[in-house]
Amino acid sequence: MAGKRVRLRNIESAGPRELTSARRHHEACAPARPRPSRNFNHQPYRDPGFVTSCLVAANDAEGSAPPDQTTTNRATYDRIARRYAENQRINVSRNESLFAELEETFLTALPERALVADVGCGPGFDAGRFADRGFQAVGVDLSGGMLAVASKELPGRLMQADMRALPITSGQLDGIWCIASLLHVPDVDTLSVLREFKRVLRRAGTLALVTALGESEGFESVPYVANEQRWFVYRNQENLKGQLLSAGFIVRLDGQVQGNRLWSTLLAEA
Ligand SMILES: C[S@@+](CC[C@H](N)C(=O)[O-])C[C@H]1O[C@@H](n2cnc3c(N)ncnc32)[C@H](O)[C@@H]1O
Repeated sequence: MAGKRVRLRNIESAGPRELTSARRHHEACAPARPRPSRNFNHQPYRDPGFVTSCLVAANDAEGSAPPDQTTTNRATYDRIARRYAENQRINVSRNESLFAELEETFLTALPERALVADVGCGPGFDAGRFADRGFQAVGVDLSGGMLAVASKELPGRLMQADMRALPITSGQLDGIWCIASLLHVPDVDTLSVLREFKRVLRRAGTLALVTALGESEGFESVPYVANEQRWFVYRNQENLKGQLLSAGFIVRLDGQVQGNRLWSTLLAEA
């Protein structure tokens, strides 16, 4: 990994937690404080049985505002979820994880049996690996189609939610793993997402954040499926680090990884 490397230090260990599945579900899903009134409200999700809870953007509700970037992204991922998962599965089977080093550093910083949310989990492969290694992993994603795929990796451990307003109790999580998903959230909402991450992490909890490097945003075609678009945001790493500081994080490690695009990798302490 290129870029300045800073060792993790003073990461507190909370020790093992013995949460039952039901309690974990309740704690992970119970809203701890009033939601930001902006664009969000709680909606019961007509779930097909694989999600635990749901918070949707108000403009997804019937009779509300016209579709925006987020509703477009969600609809796109609902349609392309299986293709996305096939591509990722091939990459995983070829052991082509670009972020393996970050993953190892992230998991090493966590206490035993840590409660970890994979935010924007997609098909849930990463969170599935964490669960296999003994962590209490939950997957969070905007797209019901993605969660349907992820249900094979993390049965009963999924939430459908927008990362801008997580239905998770404050201070509940030991870690957040957010890989290639913040890049779909409009730049204007970056700071509110980071504040939301800070809210749900316990003190000295760990955030691993990977997002695309650059300076622009807009709709982009999906390269592996015809006629599909997603809102895509390229962020400046120094700006992002400044926003992490503003949200109350300490940046412990930064780097860049070249894949099909240039990625920013960050590890931060809440
Ligand atoms: C490029 S995929 C990455 C999936 C997975 N993290 C991975 O590395 O394979 C982006 C994921 O972010 C999800 N996503 C996009 N916007 C989101 C939002 N506002 N809140 C939660 N998830 C979101 C999408 O539904 C999609 O599953």
